[in-house]
Amino acid sequence: MKLVLILILLIACSGCKADGCLERDYGEGNTVCVCNNQHCDTMPRINKVSFPYILIYTSNKSGKRFKKNYKTFTTRGGIKNSVSGKFYEDKTTNERNVSIKISKFTKKKRSCLNGTNDVNNNIPKTIVINSKITYQKIIGWGGAFTDSTGINIKSLKKNLQGKLMRSYFSTEGLEYNLCRVPIGCTDFSTHGYTYVDDIDDGDYREDPLLTKFKLAREDHLYKIPLIKQAKKLQKNLLLFASAWTSPKWMKESGSYPGSMGYLKKKMYKPWANYFIKFLDNYFSNNITFWGITTGNEIFYSMAHLKIPGIVWTPEEMGHWISKYFGPKLRKSQHHQIKMLTIDDNRPTLTHSLDTIFSNTQNEGFIDGVAIHWYFDNENNSYILDDIHHKYPNKFLLYTEACNGADNNLVKLGSWKNAEAYAKNIIQVLNRWVTGWVDWNMVLDTKGGPSYIRNFVDSPIIVNCTAQEFYKQPMYYILGHFSKFIPRDSIRISSSQNDLLIHVAAFKRPDNGVAVVILNPSDVSQRRTLRDESKGEIQLELTPRSITTLLYW
Ligand SMILES: *[C@@H]1O[C@H](CO)[C@@H](O)[C@H](O)[C@H]1NC(C)=O
Ligand SMILES: *[C@@H]1O[C@H](CO)[C@@H](O)[C@H](O)[C@H]1NC(C)=O
Ligand SMILES: *[C@@H]1O[C@H](CO)[C@@H](O)[C@H](O)[C@H]1NC(C)=O
Ligand SMILES: *[C@@H]1O[C@H](CO)[C@@H](O)[C@H](O)[C@H]1NC(C)=O
Ligand SMILES: *[C@@H]1O[C@H](CO)[C@@H](O)[C@H](O)[C@H]1NC(C)=O
Ligand SMILES: *[C@@H]1O[C@H](CO)[C@@H](O)[C@H](O)[C@H]1NC(C)=O
Repeated sequence: MKLVLILILLIACSGCKADGCLERDYGEGNTVCVCNNQHCDTMPRINKVSFPYILIYTSNKSGKRFKKNYKTFTTRGGIKNSVSGKFYEDKTTNERNVSIKISKFTKKKRSCLNGTNDVNNNIPKTIVINSKITYQKIIGWGGAFTDSTGINIKSLKKNLQGKLMRSYFSTEGLEYNLCRVPIGCTDFSTHGYTYVDDIDDGDYREDPLLTKFKLAREDHLYKIPLIKQAKKLQKNLLLFASAWTSPKWMKESGSYPGSMGYLKKKMYKPWANYFIKFLDNYFSNNITFWGITTGNEIFYSMAHLKIPGIVWTPEEMGHWISKYFGPKLRKSQHHQIKMLTIDDNRPTLTHSLDTIFSNTQNEGFIDGVAIHWYFDNENNSYILDDIHHKYPNKFLLYTEACNGADNNLVKLGSWKNAEAYAKNIIQVLNRWVTGWVDWNMVLDTKGGPSYIRNFVDSPIIVNCTAQEFYKQPMYYILGHFSKFIPRDSIRISSSQNDLLIHVAAFKRPDNGVAVVILNPSDVSQRRTLRDESKGEIQLELTPRSITTLLYW
């Protein structure tokens, strides 16, 4: 008996030491958590609680990470009066009339809390969760296995590599389950390359039959081994592939950058075959893909003077899919793979999808729409609703996002960068998006390597000189979604009568309800959360915080 007690105490104590964040402040507004050979914080394993308990996890700008708390739903008996009011799914969604019941107690308390941001002054600030109204099914969360990600992970000692991989893929980390794999090089490589780069007398030799196709050193060093490790840690990991550039000899420009880099017409067929060859080669390394996109930033590439890419017009892309890529993929051994088109920024969506689908065959080839976050704002979010309603059986997936693309900087410990992620994720989840995939999972302290010096930020930064890695606020903010909203969760209705905070809610496959709430304001926010089928709780959302609630 005594021994058991001591053992429990020992386990509990070693647990609490290993869990904690080793904070470091780089003067960017908040702290990072340092992982080194001796220490690395871990995330809590989430255990089910029964009604009326609610699990509450909070992270905030003042440094708290996944602080755990419990509350209980108040009984439903005390709620009497019915009130109707204007509620909003979020800032730019149409208003919805919601009828809520208010207890006398809440009403009295609220009358002395006359907030200036009230939309309806007579109703307390309330979040209403309604699991009877359901929307899209979630596919997953993740980042990209870029060369830079692999190079940075491999620059660490084995033991630390393991900690980093567990930080992303295991239950002690973000539990990522949907990752992007570049086909060949990206701007986050140490040089431009493709899989058919045979040089003869200083010139690239044309090889339209792809007889010389072979995977690169980078695939064998930085992608395949890490993908295999990730699959061991996360058995539900799904992968999708995206190509940046074709071999130079396939392009009009004869060079890698997107700008004016149209594919030669006679290379349409070899380019489709090139995708299949990539899938074949990974398959022979025991790696299978769930999805493939029709190319990275196929329209915005035009503006890329350095970033490798191919430029397409929507007309030509539609033609290529219908005549070459679609038939080839569907007749191959990889025929079940999801085809995602666009893989580009929001403003391109409406026109390009209309053009691509004006080719009626493409309806049968294309499964989903891949979207990047770089030109997102509140004013163009309606585009997501529009394309969902126009193409209701094509899923929407966010496939790339990063901070720092505007000013080329790593901001170690920036809460603002983390908030930008959370605002975008909540905005797009409330508009039919089925998952969110980050860009580089790991970069160095400069935001690279990038052979074209296109340095950006990442949720994990490696300092190989010190043999340390830093988990940024972005990393933890991502966990507030990825750990609580597993694949096949369904978004449910959440609405509020106030515009200061951001909310999204989900019904999980295990029937739990997860609610993510971002308070971007500098003051504490009090809210009543109501779930008609459970009851009510009072929430105090600390300044600049993100909170995930979980209840069954
Ligand atoms: C909300 O309810 C009011 C009163 O019942 C009604 O006049 C109004 O049209 C409704 N608004 C919406 C968006 O349904
Ligand atoms: C709340 O305060 C504003 C400004 O002081 C006032 O105009 C308004 O009548 C108050 N509302 C309630 C419900 O007390
Ligand atoms: C693929 O998996 C099979 C069966 O587990 C194994 O025999 C083979 O060696 C693997 N091939 C590679 C390239 O890893
Ligand atoms: C969005 O629209 C509002 C109101 O018209 C405007 O004030 C704001 O600057 C716009 N934001 C962007 C990013 O265009
Ligand atoms: C990385 O580590 C080196 C060696 O310890 C140190 O001098 C440098 O300041 C570190 N960089 C950052 C961003 O912490
Ligand atoms: C951050 O969260 C912790 C835990 O919930 C809380 O104790 C602390 O007061 C919060 N910080 C601020 C500035 O509100």
